[in-house]
Amino acid sequence: MSATMEKITSDDLIKMEDKHGAHNYHPLGVVLKRGEGVHVWDVEGKQYYDFLSAYSAVNQGHCHPKIVGAMVDQAQRLTLTSRAFYNDSLGPYEKFVTEYFGFDKVLPMNTGAEAVETAIKLCRKWAYEKKGIPENAAQIIVCENNFHGRTTTIVSFSNDPDARKNFGPFTPGFIRIPYNDTDALEKALKENDNVAGFLVEPIQGEAGVFVPDEGYLTKAKALCEANGTLFIADEVQTGIARTGKLLAVDHENVRPDILILGKAISGGVYPVSAVFADDEIMMVIKPGQHGSTFGGNPVGCKVAIAALEVVTDEKLAENAERLGELFRAEMQRIIDNSDLILKVRGKGLLNAIIVNDTEESKTAWNLCVALKENGLLAKPTHGNIIRFAPPLVMTEEELMDCVRIIETTINEFKR
Ligand SMILES: Cc1ncc(COP(=O)(O)O)c(C=O)c1O
Repeated sequence: MSATMEKITSDDLIKMEDKHGAHNYHPLGVVLKRGEGVHVWDVEGKQYYDFLSAYSAVNQGHCHPKIVGAMVDQAQRLTLTSRAFYNDSLGPYEKFVTEYFGFDKVLPMNTGAEAVETAIKLCRKWAYEKKGIPENAAQIIVCENNFHGRTTTIVSFSNDPDARKNFGPFTPGFIRIPYNDTDALEKALKENDNVAGFLVEPIQGEAGVFVPDEGYLTKAKALCEANGTLFIADEVQTGIARTGKLLAVDHENVRPDILILGKAISGGVYPVSAVFADDEIMMVIKPGQHGSTFGGNPVGCKVAIAALEVVTDEKLAENAERLGELFRAEMQRIIDNSDLILKVRGKGLLNAIIVNDTEESKTAWNLCVALKENGLLAKPTHGNIIRFAPPLVMTEEELMDCVRIIETTINEFKR
C-alpha cells in the first residue's frame, strides 16, 4: 500500500522532502503538524516546546488567534492588488507602522533579504543624490560574520565560505571590518572617501548570538553621524521585542537612519518585511525605481498591524526582558555544575549556549537531538553553539519547565 493511503509518518515525510526537495537545509529529524503558543506537535502527536521560533519570526507564539483572525478576515475580502492600484489596507498600515517605530516613511517588502537589498539600494541612491558620492563609487561598511540573507549581493559581503563558494562573481562596494570594533569603523571611515553607510546587526544572531560591548552601537552611530554616513540597523532577527526591548538598538537609545525589519513583524504568519527611514532619505526613491508585486499587500498589512498590536497588548518586550534574565541565571547555574557547556550569552529571549567542543564536532547537534527526544526543539547555529529563542508569550512556569528539560538533557548526555 502506498504511503499516501496509509497514515503518513514522519519518516515518510522526511524521505519525501529528501527525494523531491532541494537539499539546501539540514533539518532536525522532526516533522511538525500543528502549533499553538509556545508548543508544536509532530505528526505522531508528540508535543514539544519550540525553542527556535522559526529563527525569531514567531515571537507572538504559534497561530496567535488575533493575527490568524486578521489574516483570514482580509484573505476573504482582498488579497492582492499589486501597487498598480491603491488598496484600503496599505495607507492605514503605513500610518500605523511609521507611528509605531517613529519614522517618516516605510517601504514594504516581503522577506528579510529583500528588505536588506532595499536598504542597500536606498543607501546608495541617497549617497549619490544627497551626499554627492560619484556614481558607482559608494561603499557600505559591513561586519565580519554578518548574516543578512542569501541574495547574490548579500552573500557578496559575507565571509561564510558555505554562503559564498561558487556563487560568484560578487557585487562590489562593500568593506568588511571586525564586529564590535569601533576603532576599525573609525579607521574605515577615515581611509575611504566614499562611504555611504554602515550596515550592522545590533546583536549577531546567526553568528551565534554575539552581543557587542555596551556602548558599541552608540559609538558606531556617533562615528557615522560625524562622517555623514548612514547607520543601517538590520533588526530582522533582533527586532520586535526579541531582545527585551521593541528594537535591540533601544537598549542604547540609538536611532538608526535606516531600520530593517522582517520575521516577527508578522508574527511568523505571513512574509512581511519593511524598511524605515525619514523623508530626507526615503524620498530619493521615485516611482518605478524599486518595488515588489506582493510588498504592501492587504493581507500582509492587516497581519502586521495585528502582530504589532499583540507585541504591545501582551507586553512581549517586558516579558522577554524578565524571562531572559531568569533563563541566563538558570543556564549559568547548570553550567557551573557541568563540563559540557562553557557559557551562556544573549539578551532578552535571544540566547545561546556554547558547548565545550570544537566547531567541527557533532556535540551541539547531538545535544539538540537529545533535547528533541525530551520535548524541546532547538538548533545549533554553529558546530558548538545552540541558539535558544522561544516564543515571547512564554510564561515563567513554562520557562522553568524548559529549564528542567535542558538540565536533565545536559546531565544525562553522553558524548
Ligand atoms: C539579521 C538578519 N537579516 C536578514 C535575514 C534574512 O531574512 P529572510 O530569511 O527572511 O530573507 C535574517 C534571517 O535569518 C537575519 O537574521
